Formats: sequence, structure tokens, C-alpha cells
Amino acid sequence: SHVIVNFEDPSFTNNPELKFQELRNSNSIHQITLDDNFPIWLISTYDDAVSVLRDSRFIKSPDNLRRHNHEASKGKTKRNSPTYILRRLHMLANDPPQHTRLRNFAQKVFTKKVFSELQLKIQQITNELIDNIERKKEFDLIDDFAYPLPIIIIADLLGLPNEDREKLRNWSDILIEVQITEKNKQLIDETSEAFTAYLKKIFALRRKNPGEDIISAFLKLEETNDHMSENELYSMIYLLILAGHETTVNLIGNGIHALLSHPEQLHLLKNNPHLIHSAIEEMLRYNGPMLASTMRLAAEDIHMKGATIKKGDGILILFSSANQDETKFDDSLRFDITRKSNKHLAFGHGIHFCIGAPLARLECEIAINTILKRLPNLRFNPEINMPEWRTSTIIRGLKNFPVVFG
Ligand code: HEM
Repeated sequence: SHVIVNFEDPSFTNNPELKFQELRNSNSIHQITLDDNFPIWLISTYDDAVSVLRDSRFIKSPDNLRRHNHEASKGKTKRNSPTYILRRLHMLANDPPQHTRLRNFAQKVFTKKVFSELQLKIQQITNELIDNIERKKEFDLIDDFAYPLPIIIIADLLGLPNEDREKLRNWSDILIEVQITEKNKQLIDETSEAFTAYLKKIFALRRKNPGEDIISAFLKLEETNDHMSENELYSMIYLLILAGHETTVNLIGNGIHALLSHPEQLHLLKNNPHLIHSAIEEMLRYNGPMLASTMRLAAEDIHMKGATIKKGDGILILFSSANQDETKFDDSLRFDITRKSNKHLAFGHGIHFCIGAPLARLECEIAINTILKRLPNLRFNPEINMPEWRTSTIIRGLKNFPVVFG
């Protein structure tokens, strides 16, 4: 059946829980249509989300559809163009066995140890950002704090020079755009080309002069006979920068928003700092940064809850809705930082489960602890309208977040 979900409408973005509730209660799955007549099915309950995410008939790569004139497999970019290479050769765009192979390379270099050694670095950057903020009276929690932190950390982890931060930030702002349209195509193509040329230079430097960073670790694999191609490596770095960027920004932003909107929970956390871990899990569940999954495609006709998903149709899993499912979470619309056994889907589920989850949790923990310690009177800026939510199908986050702390 057809329901209207307008992801761009403020009546949706201000209260998405109402629409999610309606979708879950309908006991069916629903189809929406985006611009190019490409049908997309929305999965809204927790159990349906888990079963789709475990089902290998829902795939990522249009190449595996083997139906060349299908809308989804046509593609708007030329094969082997920099845009195609960056967007299509990484693990999140692929299915087993290719996905497994790429994810294993990442797992080799992305160890818990690498993350825990980052702790000091994250604390240092956080302190520097708050030093700057303390000189002001009011600030924007997104622009001045949540936004810069993750991109600095991921660039550091990859061993990209400090002086390139601004450039990386500009590129990733352009490349993050999911939909390629006639209007943005040229800019995305040019940016993909510039980004690839930049990485090519970095790779050459690191091959000659390796460091302790992740790019050097990937390049070191070239000494063995099992390694990624140069194009796969470009795409891997692209994914690591983009996947870790907007998401972490909005975990910090949405998390602080939830705390300021629930003063009793904020008070509880201030007086019980050990609750930070369950508080972060609750921030992920209550208002996590990924409203929906990235797109999947049906590899064959699939029957589900009385509907038929046709081969080639798109599927979006509404993580935010699954995380509010009343059959899985007691009092599911309540923000409760002491919640126990919080098995939310904010980092996904199954073979594409987020590889950066430990890093995201660590960054958020340090960011929130430091904010509470150094800016204990942080509150909404009463002179400016309430912060506005972005209109994006996939990302749940604030456009702006004006606060004061004096
Ligand atoms: C995949 C969420 C931070 C790297 C995913 C997926 C989700 C997710 C939901 C699965 C998407 C799908 O199945 O369609 C988040 C959230 C984050 C975060 C909420 C922050 C709060 C990061 C960071 C990194 C990262 C910091 C890397 C540095 C990845 C990668 C994948 C992924 C590489 C693809 C895994 C695969 O295809 O096997 N993330 N992520 N993420 N994430 Fe994250």
C-alpha cells in the first residue's frame, strides 16, 4: 500500500515518531516513490528490520541484479570515472564475496588498539575547540564543536596532514550528497577527481615514507600478495571519511539536544558520570544520526507482509523507527539514560554493521564528558528560535544548534 512520507516536510522532521508509529501500526510495508519513478519500500518495525538486514536476497550492488536495463542498474556515472570508483568500489556498496574481502582489509588495520590510542588525541582536540568557545558568550554547537571534531580525528587516523583539514572538509561536504542529479553532477565529478588526485599523491609519499597511520598500514599490505587495488583503496578512504563524518557530528549534536530537552536526565548524568555509557547508547537509540539505512535492492521478487517487493526495487530500513518499536523497548518514546539491555539498531545489523562504532562511541563519550565538565551551564539560546532539523532521508541531525553557557 501507499502512504505519504515526505522526509522534507517540517511536520515530519519535527515529529518523525508520529509517522513511524503509523507505519509500524499498519502491520504492512509501504512503498514511496522518489523523483525518477524508482519504487522504494520502507521497513519500519524492529523485527522486519533485523530480518531484512540478515537476508542475502537484499543486496547492495546493482551489478548483482543482472538486469541491465533496470532503472537501478543503469547508473548516472560512467564506469571507471573517479565518481564511479569512489562510490562503487567500497565495502558498503558491495555484497559477499567482494564485501567480505574488503571488510577484512579494514578489520586488519582498524583494531581496538588503534582506537584506544586515539583517546589522548580526541581529548586534546576537544579541549582546543572548547578553549575557542570559552572566549565567546554564545556559540553554535554544530558549527563550532560537533562538526569540526570528527573530521579532524579521522584525518589524523588516516595520517592526512593538518594543513589539509579545511580542504577535506570542503570536499566531504560536496561528496556526501547521495543523489547525483543533473545539477550537482559536474561539481561531484570534479570533486571526486580532485580528491582521487590528492590521495594518489599521499599514497606516493607514504609508500616512500610510511607512518603509524591507517593509510600506511593499507599500503603495507601491498608487500603481500593479498591486497586492494589502487582504485579500491581510494574508495575505502572515501568511505571511511564520509561514513564517520556526518554521523558522528550528529550523534554529538542530537545527544546534547536530548540532554538539554530533558533536564532531569541531564541532572542525573551530571551527578552520576558513570552513566555516560548507557547514556550514549540511549542517545543512539532515542535519536540516532542515521534515520534510515543506505539503499538496498531486491535481488528477486520477495513477498513480505502481504506485499510483493519486485526484483530491482529499493529498500530503506528506518533505523529510527525500529529503535522506537514499542514491542522491543519499554516506554519506547521516553529518553532514559539508565535503560538496560538497549539492543538498538543505530549502527545497523548484520554484515554491514558499522565498523567505526567503537570510535564513534569514544568520540562522543569524550565530547559529552568534556562539555559537561567545562560548560556546566550549557543551555538553549533563549533569544534564538529552537534549532531546526535537517531534511534528509538518511541523516537525522540539526541544521543549527544555538546555545549559551554563561
Ligand atoms: C556502516 C552508523 C560512525 C565507518 C554503518 C551503518 C550504520 C552506521 C547504520 C550500516 C549502514 C547500512 O547497513 O546501510 C554509524 C553511526 C556512526 C558511525 C551512527 C556515529 C555515531 C562511523 C565511523 C566510521 C564508520 C566513525 C569510520 C571511521 C563505517 C563503515 C561502514 C559503516 C566503513 C560500512 C561497513 C560495511 O559495509 O561492512 N555505520 N556509523 N562509521 N560505518 Fe558507521
